[in-house]
Amino acid sequence: MKKLRVAVLMLRDFVPPDTIEGLTEDELGPWKTEYDVLATLGGLGHRAHPLPVFDELSVIREGLAEMKPHVVFNLIEEFHGVGAYVPFVLGYLELKRQPYTGCNPYGLMLTHSKATAKKILKHHRIPAPDFALFPLRKVVRRPRRLPFPLIVKSATEHGSVGIAQASVVYDDKKLTDRVAFVHEELHTDAIAEQYIEGRELCVGMIGNSRLQAFPIWEVHFDGLPEDAPKIATAKMKWDRAYQKKIGLKTRAAKDLPAATAQHIYRLCKRAYRILGQSGYARMDLRLAPDGKVYLLECNPNPHLEYGEDFAESAESAGISYDDLIQRILNLGLRYEPEWKS
Ligand SMILES: Nc1ncnc2c1ncn2[C@@H]1O[C@H](COP(=O)(O)OP(=O)(O)O)[C@@H](O)[C@H]1O
Ligand SMILES: [Mg+2]
Repeated sequence: MKKLRVAVLMLRDFVPPDTIEGLTEDELGPWKTEYDVLATLGGLGHRAHPLPVFDELSVIREGLAEMKPHVVFNLIEEFHGVGAYVPFVLGYLELKRQPYTGCNPYGLMLTHSKATAKKILKHHRIPAPDFALFPLRKVVRRPRRLPFPLIVKSATEHGSVGIAQASVVYDDKKLTDRVAFVHEELHTDAIAEQYIEGRELCVGMIGNSRLQAFPIWEVHFDGLPEDAPKIATAKMKWDRAYQKKIGLKTRAAKDLPAATAQHIYRLCKRAYRILGQSGYARMDLRLAPDGKVYLLECNPNPHLEYGEDFAESAESAGISYDDLIQRILNLGLRYEPEWKS
């Protein structure tokens, strides 16, 4: 295996310490993914260095000039605090003819707004919940075709930001209130979707043109109170103490009929291509009690921390974390943007 120079593009606040020895799980910081990726690249024999950024392209230009990386390992999900700017940063790398890992700018843009992605999916008849978009500063008027219950989310935030039990609404008053909450607290457009009761599944995927999907993963909400909507709230995704309290479990989905699993894989692979994905992504789905599958969203560059769902599902397909990181590097090097053709 060729030893590579790798610049790991990360937010300057997430540059990890050199070692995590002696730290407890609770002391690990928001930089854990950055640490895992750097340590793994080093362990694989590559020369990997952080390339920390916040709001300056010149830092990237200088970093590339200095390191001359074979490939940039992209771990940024925002630039100057704005998620929508990440594709532009990758666009800059493409203009510099610099290979990078993960999703390309086009695929990031198509999936940035949940509404845009759903419109494209609908055109291709990929089943997704019906929805209405409520742009900032516009009056909330629910289309009649959209019955309750609905779930109200930010159209552009990810990681369940702004999603709580109160996001599931059963009347127009609560809908208006929750949309106002998204507008005022998150300063983004809001989307209200048909609330799909059922099993929560996700599928990790990797590839540019030839795709591999990892085993279907399931989130179990058993520890939640009986009457609480079974959804992945922000608290559930990010609060370790709360996860322990409710005994949150994620693992390979059991007892899925073979035809359903096959249908899910086919759907995910089609969606990956239709939404212009490359590198790696995770599809979030719901399986309703009547057997119908809905694609909730496509997440390009999903959370890559060691031990989290994406890496765990890869592991259960026989792909170790080392392998996974190496494959992501290879895919970055092999990706063919316009400048290569
Ligand atoms: N239409 C829906 N029906 C049922 N649950 C939903 C729906 N949309 C979102 N959820 C719940 O909210 C969680 C987060 O929503 P998602 O659209 O995946 O946004 P995020 O980008 O924040 O992950 C999902 O994992 C699921 O538990
Ligand atoms: Mg999601």
